[in-house]
Amino acid sequence: MTTPKICPTIAELRAELAPMRARGTRIGLVPTMGALHEGHLSLVRETKKRAGLVAVSIFVNPTQFAPHEDFDRYPRTLEADCARLAGTGCDLVFAPAAGEMYPRGFATAIQMGGPALGLESDFRPHFFGGVAIVVAKLLIAAMPDIAMFGEKDYQQLLVIRCMAADLGLPIEIAGGAIVREADGLALSSRNAYLSSEERQVAGQLNLVLRAAIARLHKGDAIADVEVAGAAALLESGFNSVDYVAVRDAQTLEKISDLARPARILAAAKIGTTRLIDNMAV
Ligand code: PAF
Repeated sequence: MTTPKICPTIAELRAELAPMRARGTRIGLVPTMGALHEGHLSLVRETKKRAGLVAVSIFVNPTQFAPHEDFDRYPRTLEADCARLAGTGCDLVFAPAAGEMYPRGFATAIQMGGPALGLESDFRPHFFGGVAIVVAKLLIAAMPDIAMFGEKDYQQLLVIRCMAADLGLPIEIAGGAIVREADGLALSSRNAYLSSEERQVAGQLNLVLRAAIARLHKGDAIADVEVAGAAALLESGFNSVDYVAVRDAQTLEKISDLARPARILAAAKIGTTRLIDNMAV
């Protein structure tokens, strides 16, 4: 199986895509930061069902990391990533250097409100500004018909959808289902940071969310379920809990009942590794 062609510049990416677009080929984009796992590959396969050509971007975006976060140690595995993409339906890899995305003098920012408020923003205030600007740049560079993002970063998916709609980008922003390990742990490039003891604990994150959903369906109050979920995570070995929250699935606004579709979301740390997960209620 051949590995996909790598385009390191926006000009090369556009030169590859333009003739395909002119021929009427539907173009799909799967933005990633690399260190690809089965979750990413499932997004590529799903996008390929909906587009004739699929490009995957691989770029560890510095603007979405705070200075104390893991930008320097984030895994960079371009060669292995391209090998993993062979046979998935990926036609092109866009792998720019930082200077291609943020040339000298780069001075534009996107400040997100709406679904970006609260949850992740309370703990990573820089995060969605960095995601919004890099994804806007990726979408403008590739101008795909469809771009697909994993639902594991559920708030990110809603933020990107909001940004693309607000900027009038004529691109379908699709969500791909979370891929999980046998014990329920959502696949994430950051799972590689976990020691074997931490890995045992990590599976509890999903079990706690499932237990919380069962309590909600029994009629327990949302506030009680959130508090009990956080306590259960601490008991199971997480050393801190940023949030366990039940929110409106469309807006992420706080809710007091399940009259509209809801989502439960959680973020917690084991050692120095911060994990997130979410599920439909
Ligand atoms: O989810 C990710 O991998 C990143 O946040 C994204 C969307 C590729 C932007 O850098």
